[in-house]
Amino acid sequence: MPKKLRGAKTLLTGATGGIGRTLARTLAAHGADPVLTGRRAELLEPLAAQVGGRAVPADLADRGAVEELLAAAGEIDIVVANAALPATGLLAGYSLDQVDRALEVNLRAPVVLAKLVAEQMLARRRAHLVFISSLSGKTASGQASLYNATKFGLRGFALALPEDSRPFNVGVSSVFRGYISDAGMFADSGAILPPGVGARTTDDVARATVRAIERDIAEIDVAPFGLRLTALLGGIAPRLAAAVQRHLSAEAITEQLAEGQRTKR
Ligand SMILES: NC(=O)c1ccc[n+]([C@@H]2O[C@H](COP(=O)([O-])OP(=O)(O)OC[C@H]3O[C@@H](n4cnc5c(N)ncnc54)[C@H](OP(=O)(O)O)[C@@H]3O)[C@@H](O)[C@H]2O)c1
Repeated sequence: MPKKLRGAKTLLTGATGGIGRTLARTLAAHGADPVLTGRRAELLEPLAAQVGGRAVPADLADRGAVEELLAAAGEIDIVVANAALPATGLLAGYSLDQVDRALEVNLRAPVVLAKLVAEQMLARRRAHLVFISSLSGKTASGQASLYNATKFGLRGFALALPEDSRPFNVGVSSVFRGYISDAGMFADSGAILPPGVGARTTDDVARATVRAIERDIAEIDVAPFGLRLTALLGGIAPRLAAAVQRHLSAEAITEQLAEGQRTKR
């Protein structure tokens, strides 16, 4: 297996979150030199000390934050764009500021990050961009229109980008996750999955991310078979998938999620 991560300056956004903390430790364990970012400096600094990396706090909802982050971080070999807001709930319940914040953090920030980093990466040989996404980037569900919009957008971006950067050897991967049980925005919401709907762990996501980088895999799903199948159906026949979800009373879980994630807007 090639060792792209060894010694690679790796910028991880959302490092303070449930999945971000495991990602930071796993990337460091594979030899990366991590630069960690998030808003909460009080969590970021000890984590950076623990993994031998640097903390650069930033609020990605602020225009100009990505440029400042990159100026402070210096040259980057690998980006893992992981920060996101849950963006669940009915669109009608969102203020326009909240809509803007979700679009900025979940979509604009990773796009701008990729644009600016790719410009420096073109001259080098081991550049890689990873977008931590969700099966919500492949199939739509109730009470998630804003989240779906950002994650679908990110998928299109990540699929198109390698076509333009092909001659420059910049790898691009997306990691699509289902529910993550041990930490992160789903676990924090307190929502309970219906019987038979499985989840994965933060370690599973971190392992998949390392594999995506080392083997230059375009897309990896981290979810049980049933959820992956639902996402596949959602991509091929969205109306049918929505009917199946209604039949399985998926509203119960989407409502719980929206309620539990209301504070993260
Ligand atoms: N957990 C799941 O079940 C699940 C499932 C599918 C996909 N995902 C995806 O996995 C990724 C990580 O999610 P998670 O579960 O770890 O969520 P989380 O625990 O809520 O963490 C979200 C991260 O995003 C950062 N963030 C939020 N707003 C920010 C802002 N304005 N500026 C900078 N950073 C900001 C947070 O840092 P600060 O608060 O310190 O700013 C935090 O580090 C996301 O892309 C999410 O869409 C998660």
